[in-house]
Amino acid sequence: MENESERWNFEENEKLKASSVSLRGVCNMLMERVKNSGDKKPLLSLCRVDPTDHPLFRTSLEASDAVASAVQSYNFNCYSPTVGLPQAKRAIANYLSADLPYQLSPENVFPTLGGTQAIDIILTVLARPGANILLPRPGFPHYGSRASCCNLEVRHFDLLPERGWEVDLDSLEALADDNTVAMVLINPSNPCGNVFTYQHLKRVAEIARKLGIAVISDEVYAHITYGSNPFVPMGVFSPIVPVITIGSLSKRWLVPGWRTGWIATCDPHGIFQKTGLVKNIINYLEITTDLPTFLQAAIPEIIGKTKDDFFLKNLNILRETANIFYDLCKEIPCLTCPNKPEGAMSVLVKINFSEIKDIVDDIDFCVKLAEEESVLLLPGVSVGLKNWVRISFAVDSSDLVDAFNRIKAFYLRYAKTP
Ligand SMILES: Cc1ncc(COP(=O)(O)O)c(C=O)c1O
Repeated sequence: MENESERWNFEENEKLKASSVSLRGVCNMLMERVKNSGDKKPLLSLCRVDPTDHPLFRTSLEASDAVASAVQSYNFNCYSPTVGLPQAKRAIANYLSADLPYQLSPENVFPTLGGTQAIDIILTVLARPGANILLPRPGFPHYGSRASCCNLEVRHFDLLPERGWEVDLDSLEALADDNTVAMVLINPSNPCGNVFTYQHLKRVAEIARKLGIAVISDEVYAHITYGSNPFVPMGVFSPIVPVITIGSLSKRWLVPGWRTGWIATCDPHGIFQKTGLVKNIINYLEITTDLPTFLQAAIPEIIGKTKDDFFLKNLNILRETANIFYDLCKEIPCLTCPNKPEGAMSVLVKINFSEIKDIVDDIDFCVKLAEEESVLLLPGVSVGLKNWVRISFAVDSSDLVDAFNRIKAFYLRYAKTP
């Protein structure tokens, strides 16, 4: 056997290499570094945005009851209809319509396996030979990985830290051509922690209209805002430009493991119908897997019965941890946070290399911090911004304080002496 020639007709797929910089991949790599370092401090991870790592963030009783009763009814052990369970579609349509100037219909909604599958579906159905898509930089890396898997060329427009992470509107316009099919905006923003204003979203919609492209509005963090800007869904501007909204229960209901999300087409002029996009989505749903039927069945009660108190409590915790983060960050000269977070659960911080020595870039910073202090931060390069770090503050405030004490000790070891 050993001497037989090693020839196989299958090989590594270069396109999948893009996903090797996935958030999960980087967090796992850092975790391994902690394990191998022999550092005995308890692990403090501000790397992944999974609030459920902390008992403080627990979903509502109404949500758990809804899932339990859907399972116990034995009525939802069947396969789901291809386009989703009617009651789930209706509940999501009503939920989203409460913030829109018009009513969505159940036909506008498709339940998905989290926001992640919603991204997979939309990018796949928009792809055609030669097509390109405009993605924000910094952004959520799954868009780039999925686009490269389905031969959709990626062009990045910048978000500007000095302008509260607003879109660089000139660069957006300059990037597009006749093969641009859509642009993506994430609001509230992961990784930046900002919330776009009504006026700015309107400008983006007008530019997209001029360019003839759809807007994919990633609203996985919808309503998670605790600063001065309220959450405005992009669907408000769908009379100007057709909008595909991506949503999920993962963050607002604190159940990322339930994998419950959706696509909603906000398109009062029926442009997605006319151009065949809705048909594409349905055709694609026929050849992919769907959200478990019992989870779809639970959606009306999860959405309808969860009380405002639950959301308010979580927003108060996030407001407090965002404040704690911002104050502690100011005490560490090698880190600069340009904007206090006002939404979502993470924030980007710039590393000032003029303040430290023996660290070459953001990956080196995060690896050394993991090995020496058992604190995990996400290197900015994995969200498109080299030499920044992303910090999740969806954690217990005492963990956040401990983590910053250790980051400070780390900084002092590497600080340039004047
Ligand atoms: C901006 C953004 N979009 C989409 C997703 C994926 O959503 P889900 O966890 O519901 O699959 C995430 C998850 O973190 C996200 O941050």
